[in-house]
Amino acid sequence: MISCMVPGSFDPPTKGHLDVIKRCAGIFDHVVVAVVANPSKEPMFTAEERQDLLEECVGDWDNVEVDTFSGLLVDFASLKGVDIIVKGLRAMTDFDYEFQMSQMNRHLSNIVTMFVATKPEYGYLSSSLVKQVAGLGGAIDSLVPDLVAKALKERFADDN
Ligand code: PNS
Repeated sequence: MISCMVPGSFDPPTKGHLDVIKRCAGIFDHVVVAVVANPSKEPMFTAEERQDLLEECVGDWDNVEVDTFSGLLVDFASLKGVDIIVKGLRAMTDFDYEFQMSQMNRHLSNIVTMFVATKPEYGYLSSSLVKQVAGLGGAIDSLVPDLVAKALKERFADDN
C-alpha cells in the first residue's frame, strides 16, 4: 500500500487544497491530510476547527483521513507510516520555499517530497487572500467549499 501525506495550515481549506488532496486520493492508496496545530502565523481557526472543516470536505473520499500534528512533519509522517509528502505548487514563487522545506525534510529523514501543480484556475488562490477578501465583504463562494464560506462569514460576524 502506498500512502502520502498532504500537510498544511489549511486556515481555512480552499478549493486549491481540495484539488490537490482529491488528485492524491486518485493516485495513492491512502492519503493523510496533516493539519499543523501551530502554524507560523496565528490561525483564525483552531486545529480542531480546521480538522472538522476538512473532514466534512473530504467525507466522500474513502481513502482520505485528516489528522492534526505538532512538532516535526517528518516525525508525524514516520508515526503514520507514510513515506511520501505531497505539496501543491501554485507558481514558481512557491517553489523556492517548498524546495527548501523538502530538502530540510530529506536531511531530517529519508522522506520523499513530490509536488503537484495546482489547477490553473486556483493558481492565485491562498488561504490568506481568502480571509482578507472575506473580511472585507468580498465574494469567496467560488474559492472555498460552501461550509468553509459559511464558517468564515460566521467568524467575521462574531468578530464585529
Ligand atoms: O500551509 P503551509 O503554510 O504551506 O504549511 C506548512 C507546513 C505545515 C507544511 C510546514 O510549516 C511544516 O512542515 N511544519 C511542521 C514543522 C516542521 O517540520 N518544520 C521543518 C520542516 S522544513
